[in-house]
Amino acid sequence: MDFVKEELEEIKKKGLYRSLRLIEGEQGPEVSFNGRRIVMLCSNNYLGLANHPRVKEAAIEAVRKYGCGSGSSRLISGNMELHQELERKIASFKHAEAALVFGSGYLCNLGVIDSLMGEDDVILSDELNHASIIDGARLSRARVKIYPHKDLNVLEKELKQLKGYRRKLVVTDGVFSMDGDIAPLPGIVELAKKYKAMTMVDEAHATGVMGQNGRGCVEHFDLEGKVDIQMGTLGKALGSLGAYVAGEKKLIDFLINRARGFIYTTALPPPLCAAAITAIEIITQDRQLRNRLWENAKFLKEGLQKIELPVGNPETPIIPIVIGESSTTMRMCEILLQSGVYAQGIRPPTVPEGSSRIRTTVMATHNQEHLIKALEAFKAVRGGLIQGRAGSGRGEQEKQGFEQFNPFICLMGDFLWFQQIS
Ligand SMILES: Cc1ncc(COP(=O)(O)O)c(C=O)c1O
Repeated sequence: MDFVKEELEEIKKKGLYRSLRLIEGEQGPEVSFNGRRIVMLCSNNYLGLANHPRVKEAAIEAVRKYGCGSGSSRLISGNMELHQELERKIASFKHAEAALVFGSGYLCNLGVIDSLMGEDDVILSDELNHASIIDGARLSRARVKIYPHKDLNVLEKELKQLKGYRRKLVVTDGVFSMDGDIAPLPGIVELAKKYKAMTMVDEAHATGVMGQNGRGCVEHFDLEGKVDIQMGTLGKALGSLGAYVAGEKKLIDFLINRARGFIYTTALPPPLCAAAITAIEIITQDRQLRNRLWENAKFLKEGLQKIELPVGNPETPIIPIVIGESSTTMRMCEILLQSGVYAQGIRPPTVPEGSSRIRTTVMATHNQEHLIKALEAFKAVRGGLIQGRAGSGRGEQEKQGFEQFNPFICLMGDFLWFQQIS
């Protein structure tokens, strides 16, 4: 096992070593960390439903009635009332014929892509798609063609050239998880139709967030009924864990029979199903939460722009500050933590080489005080930044002439900042 130590040393040398931070207590807009209260600015609990009283109560009630676990996979003996109720709820929420629940978004993307696609097929995938889509595509053994981020011209060129494949699939994140921008879905759907490809949209960061009724990017673009496969997670705005696919009944029947990520794993525990059912009810009944989320996103984005941090132009509550260099990004993350703000640094391979970033996300449950505290902390470290504009992806940054975070100036910034707080 010597290689393990050697590889870890390599990872450390590159400034890419990861370790776990412990959040004490529940996931709120403010959390306990090392015994201190700090502002949480990197949770996907967008609407605060992970600790909403009604959601918690529903989960507790489900434990009382159904117990903690499902005891088996769905196709053996684990199919319970709550699974089916949740699937009916999701299908109706997404205006789809049927839905199927998976254990997590990662499993879902693996299961769906691997079961639908095979060696004779081709997948067209945005270069910034989530790792679970990438892994699903790899697992399927289909030919994978990666198109530049949101580039419909290249996508069309690729689609036009395809010959001899059995099935074609265009797959994209709806909201890109590390950049907070939105896929050009109308164009993608149009091209897929023109070239007879299937479409799949990952609504992980869009469900509960995008669209008039929180149904996601497909609703936002008025494309309901026009996307073949919609997947989303229950672990982000819905505050629980798990994932779903929504689409035609025949697709769901196919997945029940073919998706290994559905078949060979224990069914979702009852409290998580109950939590997700209640979360969907809250989302459909209460627009206020979503309105607050968007107001907070606007406030934070404008505040960060005002202090001239390179936030680019994110379109959603995910607001990345692209720094470039990994160790500098993590240093900035540490300084923010010390000043009471938790905004995680994100490094390769999660984001492209040279585009490490502080990824901030706002929540509906943040108040002005939280956000002002966060902005003050960012202002204190901004001395370490050379002003520049951040784009969403590798290419974008080059095109827009984004300048790298300067480590020397950063250290000066740290020094000045430490002087201020000591
Ligand atoms: C776009 C996207 N898809 C899928 C997933 C995986 O979902 P889960 O966390 O439920 O496994 C995530 C995040 O984790 C994501 O950001």
